[in-house]
Amino acid sequence: RIPVLAVDGPSSSGKGTVASAVAQHLGYHFLDSGAVYRATALAAMRAGLTPADEHAVAVVAATLDLAFEGKSIRLAGEEVAELLRDEAVGSLASKISALPSVRSALRELQLSFRRLPGLVADGRDMGTVIFPGADMKVFLTASAAKRAERRHKQLISKGISSNIDDLRADLEARDQRDQNRAVAPLKPAPDALPLDNSDLTIDESVNWVLNCWEQ
Ligand code: C5P
Repeated sequence: RIPVLAVDGPSSSGKGTVASAVAQHLGYHFLDSGAVYRATALAAMRAGLTPADEHAVAVVAATLDLAFEGKSIRLAGEEVAELLRDEAVGSLASKISALPSVRSALRELQLSFRRLPGLVADGRDMGTVIFPGADMKVFLTASAAKRAERRHKQLISKGISSNIDDLRADLEARDQRDQNRAVAPLKPAPDALPLDNSDLTIDESVNWVLNCWEQ
């Protein structure tokens, strides 16, 4: 059996940072499933597709040539890690991720990350749909105000100015879309451990997860 730790939660809840640090600590593989949806969105965008072209976007998803290595993400050989963080890419990812055939086309690719010695998977439906039998599931949240503040700081560090209220409105719109879609809506698995990290540092959250894992 290959152990799996699923970390789900809304945008900018810190799950990517926490999950990758936990993976590193355990020496496990790491799946950033949001990046898989973002890469699909980028490839679809470049092919001139919109969310209305469900079948064609699903074909793009099924034939995605994606390679992760450390912080590097290659799409058909091209380094795209930075591009994937783009707001437009994230917004399209959120829209195409509501398409059932796109989600099922990406299932196998996500399952293939489960390799020895183990996997930490981060996303929206890791514990509910992709790895329902995960050894441990964490549902990470933070208040919308805190998430907007973190996103704002992240953008500043990249030299991008932004408005906190706009960021918060955007986050809340994305939460709504993720929670209300018909397929794989964002919700905690019944057996997920909830963690609100609004007032925790990254290290505190990482240690909380590692403590639970070791028990
Ligand atoms: O987590 P991240 O912001 O990178 O994800 C981008 C978009 O992909 C999210 O807004 C969400 O709609 C979608 N997503 C998803 N299922 C996942 C991971 C991400 O629907 N497991």
